[in-house]
Amino acid sequence: MNLTELNKVATAMVASGKGILAADESSGTIKKRFDAIGVESTEDNRRDYREMLFRSKEAMSQYISGVILYDETIWQDAKDGTPLVKLIEQSGAIPGIKVDEGTQALPMCPGELVTVGLDRLAERLKKYYERGARFAKWRAVIDIGSGIPSMTAISVNAHALARYAALCQAAQIVPIVEPEVLMDGDHDIDRCHEVTQRVLNKTFQELRVQRVALEGMVLKPNMVISGKKCPKQASVEEVAEKTVRLLKACVPAAVPGIAFLSGGQSDEEATAHLNAMHKLGPLPWGLTFSYGRALQAAPQKAWAGKAENVAAGQRAFSHRARMNGLASKGEWQSSLEQKAA
Ligand code: 13P
Repeated sequence: MNLTELNKVATAMVASGKGILAADESSGTIKKRFDAIGVESTEDNRRDYREMLFRSKEAMSQYISGVILYDETIWQDAKDGTPLVKLIEQSGAIPGIKVDEGTQALPMCPGELVTVGLDRLAERLKKYYERGARFAKWRAVIDIGSGIPSMTAISVNAHALARYAALCQAAQIVPIVEPEVLMDGDHDIDRCHEVTQRVLNKTFQELRVQRVALEGMVLKPNMVISGKKCPKQASVEEVAEKTVRLLKACVPAAVPGIAFLSGGQSDEEATAHLNAMHKLGPLPWGLTFSYGRALQAAPQKAWAGKAENVAAGQRAFSHRARMNGLASKGEWQSSLEQKAA
């Protein structure tokens, strides 16, 4: 393992003014997104859509530091035969790959999940590195509900995250460690805070036990936020303040960067929260976005599967990428949110 090189990649992934595009929807998830815009989820349509994003010159060269791909996409070529990975590299962004294989029910823990995919991961990482991937992602899912999460679910998921992270570093790939506490319930922000604290503490304990080099990883957490169905929604300032305070308590400064998931927040909320956190600086790590839905909802709607809408889709993507790029420096203002398309 070359830690200097891993650290260089991790630092570039969270460079000020830039963030990560999570375009690693599994076949099931992208089908749901396409259903919503009336597009059939064929291999060609998925390729055309992602090619549109990766060819968005302004977004990719100025505001996107890296792209998380799904297995199908990393092996796909653009219409003109150029590998999609090459398009990303040519734009100046770093290609990455989702390597977990989704979740399964956790035995003895009703309603809880464990992320799987460790079997043969070392061999898969080697192939992804040869194809150009320089970072990877593994997402653990922790749900909040009555009597959950259990310590069992938190432990097994943290253990798997650390196993994955160590295998990545051994393969010279920067692991994005993503322990996601879902925002789906009716819990309030303080309950999210309490669960996220337990999850982060357990995750870093496992990372240390398994000798993961913190200098060569990126953390992808949820924000500390009210559950979507909670009648009392915390303000932008409260989310920013509670999130930054918790991260400072749980995430060592040796970690080069933190890149949030959007988790179902609206586009503008996700941007406003990140921006507000930078108003609380200086911060000990890079702090940016690694959004899926909050970067792609607008371009998906503008594109709607039609070749004649590609320019509009790219404009919508570039607008969101620019807004989040500004937020990653605390320079965003809601007045900049005029319609892109
Ligand atoms: P969202 O921003 O849509 O939550 O997706 C980010 C991601 O990569 C989840 O694993």
